Amino acid sequence: MAEQAYLITGASRGIGREIARTIARRGRRLALTGRDTAALEATAGLARDLGAEVTVHAADLADVSQIGKLADELKGISLSGLIANAGVAVVKGIEELTSEDWQRTLDVNVTGPFELVRRMVPSMKAGSSLVNVSSVAAKVAFPGWSSYCMSKSAMEGFFRSLREELRPRGIRVINITPAATATDIWQGVPGEWDTAKMMSPEQVAMAVAFALDRPDDVLVEEIQIGGLGGNL
Ligand SMILES: NC(=O)c1ccc[n+]([C@@H]2O[C@H](COP(=O)([O-])OP(=O)(O)OC[C@H]3O[C@@H](n4cnc5c(N)ncnc54)[C@H](OP(=O)(O)O)[C@@H]3O)[C@@H](O)[C@H]2O)c1
Repeated sequence: MAEQAYLITGASRGIGREIARTIARRGRRLALTGRDTAALEATAGLARDLGAEVTVHAADLADVSQIGKLADELKGISLSGLIANAGVAVVKGIEELTSEDWQRTLDVNVTGPFELVRRMVPSMKAGSSLVNVSSVAAKVAFPGWSSYCMSKSAMEGFFRSLREELRPRGIRVINITPAATATDIWQGVPGEWDTAKMMSPEQVAMAVAFALDRPDDVLVEEIQIGGLGGNL
């Protein structure tokens, strides 16, 4: 039988690191990816301390050749779950937003996940799950967030369609839709943001785990979760 593992993108910090810790507590095998190898190793250490077997695979989701190499490294593993979590937020008004900003957002948030999903799905078995860590920005408009909103809406649509395509194969396709969460992503967002008022990344990881932990014949299609104080 093929080996099984949960692949988490953007596992080097923030929400991805917490998802890794949460799945590790369930004693599952993990494959972690991102660009920052030292930070990925730090996540791997935390997960190993919780009892998981972990491999680390550096890859830039904006580079299709690196996604191909990642898929090659995972050959022989039938994923129990692919958690598409990595993402970037370029927040600029339309007059400042460049073609490069737009393209990078598309590459990391949409095309990279597509290139990874299409390579991994063929070996995934009934009972496995695809999870998109989306954003409330897929549903709610925020001024200056147009490229991010575009990318998150695109991914939710991609996953909704995949859900119907993969349902007959017993593969569960899930959108997790968090509002503002206290991670480093806010350091790159212009303005003053009080992360102390935001939801913790553990809450998002627990929502992912809730969806994954359902029996194989139960599908959580979407969870929208945020702080009681509002989206931002
Ligand atoms: N924080 C929030 O308020 C919030 C709310 C809703 C949704 N989200 C979504 O949650 C997900 C995780 O966000 P976060 O808040 O945890 O952000 P974060 O702390 O900035 O982490 C982003 C992760 O994405 C990875 N990443 C970025 N560019 C990459 C690239 N080119 N190739 C591969 N990996 C890349 C980073 O890894 P490396 O730097 O190692 O490459 C990092 O692990 C994102 O999809 C984000 O849109 C966040």
